[in-house]
Amino acid sequence: MLTKPRILVLYYSQSGQLRDIIDSIVGDIKGKADIDFVSIKPVTAFPFPWKASSFFDTMPETVQHIPILLNPLPADIYNTDYDLVIFGYTSWFLNPSLPISSFLQSEYASILKGKNVITVIGCRNMWLHGQERVKEYFRQLGANLVGNIVLTDTNPNLVSVLTIIRWSFKGKKEASGLLPAAGVQDHDIKRASRFGVPIYRHVTENKLDGLQKELLMMGAIHLKPGLIILERRGVKNFRKWSQYIRDRGGPGAPERQGRVTMFKRLLIVAIFILSPISSLTAFIQLQLQRRSLLKDVEYFKGLSYEPGKF
Ligand SMILES: Cc1cc2nc3c(=O)[nH]c(=O)nc-3n(C[C@H](O)[C@H](O)[C@H](O)COP(=O)(O)O)c2cc1C
Repeated sequence: MLTKPRILVLYYSQSGQLRDIIDSIVGDIKGKADIDFVSIKPVTAFPFPWKASSFFDTMPETVQHIPILLNPLPADIYNTDYDLVIFGYTSWFLNPSLPISSFLQSEYASILKGKNVITVIGCRNMWLHGQERVKEYFRQLGANLVGNIVLTDTNPNLVSVLTIIRWSFKGKKEASGLLPAAGVQDHDIKRASRFGVPIYRHVTENKLDGLQKELLMMGAIHLKPGLIILERRGVKNFRKWSQYIRDRGGPGAPERQGRVTMFKRLLIVAIFILSPISSLTAFIQLQLQRRSLLKDVEYFKGLSYEPGKF
């Protein structure tokens, strides 16, 4: 490649954490590539920090991928022949965030047609089902998934739940009391800069087929098999609850608020009271199904798409 590669970064980030992750990834190649950053923007922005009422009320439409309205993307990106798209998204309720699933169903997503795309995910620790849905959309759109980098909060599960609650509802990301800082650890965000040069090399050498293998060798994805079991259980429950709530009306409908409150309370009980039992049964299941779960770990680290993993 004689000219600089052209890279489009498309992303949705509420607090800016995911944007920081992507900035770190491309930090070392900024001078060597032409990089356009485009943020996906809902017509009505989601609040940050959140109010508990709107946070839990967002679950049903997120889980069922009921699209919201988005602002159009800049027209000139549709006239540029990008060599690579970096598609950054976060998980909401075990799915791609609602602005992201809305984008993938919108006319604007035609920008991905025929493009090589790397997904970058920044979330608490549960992203598997979301990525399966994204793979499904990419297939329909004719986008070619060539890489996936996932950064999560590596603190113990319950600690990461407590800190994300403090962050989401009070906007406080920093450590406080006995609790550490929320979200993806700063040093993991800084260290994500190591992925930039291999991405650049694979793009310029036009060898994107081998990229994910190299990214994985560099630690682009860490996945504990127990999380697969917990996420599968969560996905089933969220599906049931999303329909139960939507039976009473759409986003914000007063008629559904009783059910939204029930969901909120049950989720809190599930996380803080049932979680130790759930982790124990997941541990037992892990011993019994270790082989098939280790196979699943390899699958989820990869780029192929087999329907029915959830
Ligand atoms: C409504 C909502 C639901 C979320 N659900 C999940 C989830 O299911 N799994 C997960 O790992 N993280 C979840 N998170 C955390 C996000 O994936 C993300 O890490 C965090 O919101 C910061 O992203 P930002 O860059 O958009 O600020 C959720 C966050 C929000 C706001």
